[in-house]
Amino acid sequence: MTMNAPALDGVYGPDGPFGVGTLDLGDPATFAEHDLDAYWRALRDSAPLHWNPPTAGRRGFWVLSRHEDIIDTYRDNVNFTSERGNVLVTLLEGGDAAAGRMLAVTDGHRHHELRKILQRVLSPRVLDEVARTVRVNTRRWIREAVESGGCEFAEEIASRIPMTTISSLLGVPEEDREYLLSLTKAALSADEESDDGVDSEVDAVDSEVDSEMARNEILMYFMDVVEERREAPGEDVISMLIASSIDGVPLTDEDVVLNCYSLIIGGDETSRLTMIDCLHTLAARPGEWQRFKRGEVAVGTAVDEVLRWASPTMHFGRSVARETELHGVRLRPGEIVTLWHASGNRDERVFARPGEFDLGRTPNKHMAFGYGPHFCVGSYLAKVEIAELLTALRDFTTGFEQTGPARRIRSNFLTGFATMPVRFHPDHSGLKEVER
Ligand code: HEM
Repeated sequence: MTMNAPALDGVYGPDGPFGVGTLDLGDPATFAEHDLDAYWRALRDSAPLHWNPPTAGRRGFWVLSRHEDIIDTYRDNVNFTSERGNVLVTLLEGGDAAAGRMLAVTDGHRHHELRKILQRVLSPRVLDEVARTVRVNTRRWIREAVESGGCEFAEEIASRIPMTTISSLLGVPEEDREYLLSLTKAALSADEESDDGVDSEVDAVDSEVDSEMARNEILMYFMDVVEERREAPGEDVISMLIASSIDGVPLTDEDVVLNCYSLIIGGDETSRLTMIDCLHTLAARPGEWQRFKRGEVAVGTAVDEVLRWASPTMHFGRSVARETELHGVRLRPGEIVTLWHASGNRDERVFARPGEFDLGRTPNKHMAFGYGPHFCVGSYLAKVEIAELLTALRDFTTGFEQTGPARRIRSNFLTGFATMPVRFHPDHSGLKEVER
């Protein structure tokens, strides 16, 4: 803990003005049990640099909640580094084993070079074919669900779109996709409720063990695939990565595997949660849905508001690399600074009526994809997926409603729902359209 931390403690204590208690943002239960809107507003107004104190066995960390501070920190890869982890789980462990090899946790020259390789393999030109697959699949699945009256949207559609997309990008065979999906779901968040319905510390430890096993299984799976592709290269991203080098040195199998892992982890759950949130939000706001259905809002504009609203990654983080100052506080090397999109994307200093879901919002300087040198390399693909979902909904249904409770995932990193039962009202003239 730093010298100045205690002064910031207690502002939100049990007797504090907001009555929300001292919230621990490192604890997944905090997000399951509280609506944090008022808390974030209070932090933005009164404690823009807040200290989340250490708890049993966990280090304390700084919390940034204002849009401007988050953007400035993302931009600054001199005073802040990603190489000791970029999310709380790794930052709190003191580092990421993939540092210097996996794009998201690499900085400096190697990051720049590795990013050029990944940008090339994820460029709109290379993705043209993948984007077409996304369109065809999404329209087919939405059409089928509308014709059958409804579906468990999370399970039957939102789970399939991103995994199929990334699998076709990486050349993962059809028969392995279900298996990989079960692993990616377990790797980052725990979407299962505990057996007795009460979350205990034992449940939390169990779920972290499951997550770690899932992460290892994904790595082992890709080790096998890389070996196969070395023998028989194809047109897929894995083969392209195998053929790439940095400063004349070819990427090793481990480099390739870690970056495949990064694509699958980065691109699956984030997009899935955004699509589920999109349906959940639109079902609850028929007025916004009708504006979109009538063609009053451009698809790209709507996609950005869906992303701002969902903010599926609640935070990312950095470690202080060099002593620096923020809001009059000296941050010391090694300290953890967390950047909360969940708050930045609702900052009234940047967004008019931030608590309103306005599909026509422009400008929309949301930070769902981060900012600066580590800005999401998959943003184009993610936007394609959300746009195709919105377009298929617009073409094939007149409206939809949620038919049962949606279960929240449990995580301090991701937010959203694991289930979403919906009923669709068919748009008969749209359904008659011959598939383009
Ligand atoms: C980076 C969010 C989809 C791959 C990031 C970052 C954010 C983000 C906030 C910055 C992390 C940091 O600064 O530490 C999202 C969201 C998505 C999404 C909200 C969907 C709605 C995707 C997809 C892919 C992907 C589809 C891959 C196909 C990556 C990778 C990075 C990254 C590899 C690291 C970039 C770097 O460090 O230079 N993403 N992402 N993401 N994302 Fe995404």
